[in-house]
Amino acid sequence: MRLSTFVLASTAANLAIAAPLSYPLPNGFPNLNATALAEVYKLAGGTLPNGALPTQLTAGATQTLQLIAANELFEVAYFTELVNNITNKVPGYENADSYALKTLTAIVNQEQIHVLAANGVLANANQTNIQPCQYQFPVSDFDSAIALAETFTEVVLGVLPLAQMAFGVDGGDETGLIPVIGSIIGQEAEQNGYYRAFQKKIASAAPLLTGGAPQFAYTAISQFIVPGSCPNIDVIGLTAFPALTVETTPKAENSTQLFSVNGTVSAANASIAYLSGQNLPVTVPITNVNTEGGKTYFFAEFPYEAGFARGLTIGALVSGSSPTFNSSADVATATLYGPALIEID
Ligand SMILES: *[C@@H]1O[C@H](CO)[C@@H](O)[C@H](O)[C@H]1NC(C)=O
Ligand SMILES: *[C@@H]1O[C@H](CO)[C@@H](O)[C@H](O)[C@H]1NC(C)=O
Ligand SMILES: *[C@@H]1O[C@H](CO)[C@@H](O)[C@H](O)[C@H]1NC(C)=O
Ligand SMILES: *[C@@H]1O[C@H](CO)[C@@H](O)[C@H](O)[C@H]1NC(C)=O
Ligand SMILES: *[C@@H]1O[C@H](CO)[C@@H](O)[C@H](O)[C@H]1NC(C)=O
Ligand SMILES: *[C@@H]1O[C@H](CO)[C@@H](O)[C@H](O)[C@H]1NC(C)=O
Ligand SMILES: *[C@@H]1O[C@H](CO)[C@@H](O)[C@H](O)[C@H]1NC(C)=O
Repeated sequence: MRLSTFVLASTAANLAIAAPLSYPLPNGFPNLNATALAEVYKLAGGTLPNGALPTQLTAGATQTLQLIAANELFEVAYFTELVNNITNKVPGYENADSYALKTLTAIVNQEQIHVLAANGVLANANQTNIQPCQYQFPVSDFDSAIALAETFTEVVLGVLPLAQMAFGVDGGDETGLIPVIGSIIGQEAEQNGYYRAFQKKIASAAPLLTGGAPQFAYTAISQFIVPGSCPNIDVIGLTAFPALTVETTPKAENSTQLFSVNGTVSAANASIAYLSGQNLPVTVPITNVNTEGGKTYFFAEFPYEAGFARGLTIGALVSGSSPTFNSSADVATATLYGPALIEID
């Protein structure tokens, strides 16, 4: 299901949207002077990498780094607001203890460094830096904020390995970035262990985490952006998909789920594809398709016991009748609506 639907389904909280946090942050971010940068390093527990950076980037690598920067900028906004809500004792955030505040304070500074790292690589190759947008988040209590952080972090964990693959095979000057991205994958996974542990979920979800696609990550971020507020996010060149909503709540068992989309599809020209773990995509037909007033409802199997991983499952409505896909990239190419971000345990 969509992030917003996920939160709606997970909590009975209201969806009050606060005045969006605005950049630059009080410390000057994203433009930090030397003093402010030193303070970020201290709070983050480490520094930017100081090795040589590529002076040229392929078009694909530029897009990948711009997407990473856009994502990390969104995360800085999210965790800044979260820390502010805890610090200001906003109703709904009282159950965050001092350990949570300490951890999230480190995380917001670590995410600032991730932004500076991605934009720094772009700048060193004379490519366009991504500038911050305004954001709004569909959470208003600490528990749902942490649950949402788990979901969007898992989306990022699905896409960063694809960045590594692209840097390895695109013939560019980017292989030195592969271990840097690897260390960020580990870092985001450490964060996610905390988000899961806080929810009393098993800290490490599954042996192999769910893969994703840049288009899905871009769509996920887009939901949090105040429309029209981005100075230059369009340079990335990705387009957000329209929403695929899971109307029912999938569990850790085989089941049938009700989905909806805005628009018209038929069982003859659309199917549901799932990504889970590092397995090949699973495709199932859609049934009982019913269009009313421009909105289409349909059912599809959710075959969890066919080897799905605990944690994130990504669903997408794809074109074609039961197509076969070899990779998450193939699924994204065929996607009409999505991603549905389904959390099982
Ligand atoms: C912070 O609290 C406000 C007011 O409840 C809420 O609208 C906003 O979404 C919260 N942000 C986060 C990241 O929890
Ligand atoms: C550095 O930036 C901070 C935050 O904007 C500001 O308070 C401080 O005066 C600046 N320091 C210098 C030396 O410019
Ligand atoms: C950097 O990019 C700008 C704008 O695309 C271009 O005008 C300039 O020549 C480039 N500089 C170098 C050193 O490549
Ligand atoms: C579906 O379309 C309606 C009417 O245009 C709109 O209000 C709603 O936000 C859309 N829903 C989604 C999930 O895109
Ligand atoms: C799928 O079929 C429906 C109903 O026949 C049609 O309205 C829709 O345009 C088709 N969509 C695609 C993507 O082919
Ligand atoms: C769950 O569904 C899958 C795919 O249809 C099937 O192979 C498997 O046997 C089912 N498992 C159970 C326990 O029903
Ligand atoms: C998937 O892989 C099989 C076997 O390698 C190949 O025959 C098929 O064309 C591939 N399908 C797609 C959509 O790439």
